[in-house]
Amino acid sequence: FSSVSTLVQRNPSFSTLNSDDISYFKRFLGEKNVIQDEDRLETVNTDWMHKYKGSSKLLLQPRSTEEVSQILRYCNSRCLAVVPQAGNTGLVGGSVPVFDEVIVNVGSMNNIISFDKVSGILVCEAGCILENLISFLDNKGFVMPLDLGAKGSCQIGGNVSTNAGGLRLVRYGSLHGNVLGLEAVLANGDVLDMLGTLRKDNTGYDLKHLFIGSEGSLGIVTKVSILTPPKLSSVNLAFLACKDYSSCQKLLVEAKRKLGEILSAIEFLDDQAMVLVLHHLDGVRNPLPTSMHNFYVLIETTGSDESFDREKLEAFLLSSMEGGLISDGVLAQDINQLSSFWRIREGVPEALMKAGAVYKYDLSLPVEKMYNLVDDMRVRLGNLAKVVGYGHLGDGNLHLNISAPQYNDAILQQIEPYVYEWTSKHRGSISAEHGLGLMKANQIYYSKTPETVQIMASIKTLLDPNGILNPYKVLPHSLNR
Ligand code: FAD
Ligand code: MLT
Ligand code: ZN
Repeated sequence: FSSVSTLVQRNPSFSTLNSDDISYFKRFLGEKNVIQDEDRLETVNTDWMHKYKGSSKLLLQPRSTEEVSQILRYCNSRCLAVVPQAGNTGLVGGSVPVFDEVIVNVGSMNNIISFDKVSGILVCEAGCILENLISFLDNKGFVMPLDLGAKGSCQIGGNVSTNAGGLRLVRYGSLHGNVLGLEAVLANGDVLDMLGTLRKDNTGYDLKHLFIGSEGSLGIVTKVSILTPPKLSSVNLAFLACKDYSSCQKLLVEAKRKLGEILSAIEFLDDQAMVLVLHHLDGVRNPLPTSMHNFYVLIETTGSDESFDREKLEAFLLSSMEGGLISDGVLAQDINQLSSFWRIREGVPEALMKAGAVYKYDLSLPVEKMYNLVDDMRVRLGNLAKVVGYGHLGDGNLHLNISAPQYNDAILQQIEPYVYEWTSKHRGSISAEHGLGLMKANQIYYSKTPETVQIMASIKTLLDPNGILNPYKVLPHSLNR
């Protein structure tokens, strides 16, 4: 487990849970929603990567906004620290306790409240699992503007709280654009109803944005209203090979220009990522098996005219092949092939997990410089570890992952602060989409000025004066009370 938590001191102003607290929670939540079972607690204390581990003694499962409000009002008055947890697929140690914080999971709040077929606006409770929302919308002829490999477990409340990016951001934009409204419960139990369903509303400060991406540090999100686009009839996916990173980058520029409005995803992985996927995931095979290539790019188009879209994509692929940008490629012929191609890209995090310990960096960088960091890291680490690069090419989002048999301080010292300094020097962001969590709370100054961080801390104090919500995360420890 990470040594990060040993660098953080438990805030002595937080109380320790006692039997009166447990009785109080049982009275209004019911016995079965107040969980003290050791096995369950072991699971919810441990993050997806098995890298961060807390020692919470209590998991609470509220069924309504009123119950969330009652929990927080009580915890605030008793100064009990709280960690909001959803699908626990977060990758920065943000969703698990650091010490004995009470875990609150709104997973039982999983109702769809309304869906408007004219506007495509979905209103639902925060505990809905992303994949269930995707299926619900599919039946109605719509799609979620958000898709990611963790869709089977992550909840929309977790997605909103991390401002998750994912595979479709290049087409539909971020949740700051797609979330039209939300309801959140503040640390003192007050309910903020901002559950608007309007595209346009300029009545002053748009406070919902504070909750999008604040990683549970300002309130618990209980309901979400989200704009969903119509499902279009024709989806094509090309799985392509490139000889070098410069070709991937040129391919991106060409794809944006030539595919324009039908481009719906453009993702990449390097040969090291492909090797791991082929080795660790059952039933996965390389669609371009004749030789090993240095880079693979997935290009998806989504449009409304099957023959036009296919013609446009084929013409683009032909010109890219003639121009030497692509060295090989294949177009998915049916839905099964389409999902098997996506499985390769979406399976990279799982394959890395199976390979052993993984140091994950999620960086926004200028696309043309992005892969230089992977090359530099390989030189620095030599035989110490494997360096893997993949990510959301269209968004300038590199996932730099360093894979080793086990966590080891000698490796970490070669990576940090080098990776953060490199990113800062290129005016990148040390968190493109995963958030800061516990892992990067202290590194925030690599991407934000002291003045900006100070305003963030003031907002935190205003909304959560006792600092009970997700302590030790997001803000640097010097400002995190
Ligand atoms: P959790 O992990 O439980 O929580 C995440 C954060 O949100 C925590 O800080 C938590 O305290 C807070 N939180 C949770 N629920 C609430 C709530 N109701 N109110 C307030 N705060 C809350 N991320 C991407 O951006 N793009 C990707 O493509 C992507 N792919 C992934 C693929 C895999 C295989 C995995 C394991 C993870 C991936 N992630 C990705 C990271 C992760 O899935 C996302 O961050 C996701 O949005 C987290 O949702 P969750 O429900 O699991 O939240
Ligand atoms: C992805 O794009 O696959 C996710 O963000 C998860 C990861 O970075 O490993
Ligand atoms: Zn990602």
